[in-house]
Amino acid sequence: MRLALIASSQAYAPYSNFLVGAAARLKSGMILTGSNQENASYPVGVCAERVLLGVVASQHPQIPIDTMAITYQSKNRESKVPVSPCGMCRQALLEFENRVNHPMRLILGGAEGEVLIIDSARLLLPLAFESSYLK
Ligand code: THU
Repeated sequence: MRLALIASSQAYAPYSNFLVGAAARLKSGMILTGSNQENASYPVGVCAERVLLGVVASQHPQIPIDTMAITYQSKNRESKVPVSPCGMCRQALLEFENRVNHPMRLILGGAEGEVLIIDSARLLLPLAFESSYLK
């Protein structure tokens, strides 16, 4: 969580002022981080979680993520309520778990306050659309 909060300082979020940081601890022990990167063409922006999944998958393919911590700081409001990953990220997190055949523990927090721990990204997306539908 500490590294995720530091990573949120690297967010590029001039449109929402909502700076998200994520840190992944791989099964190898290595920790990598990501942050949200926005764009004047709003839909082009990418959430911190998917930035981080791209970094992990491209630099350390096949190595499972043991735990991902996600947090934020907001320039518009307090940051005491745990962040909740968007639906698109839930889909991407679930597929990463499937890809490496390993659950990912999620730690969701804010800059301060309550922290939620969830044992697997799968739990955040019931009745998911998965690759098995395409086979
Ligand atoms: N955002 C994330 O990066 N992760 C989340 O879990 C929630 C939302 C970003 C997307 C956008 O840049 C900003 O936060 C406001 O939606």
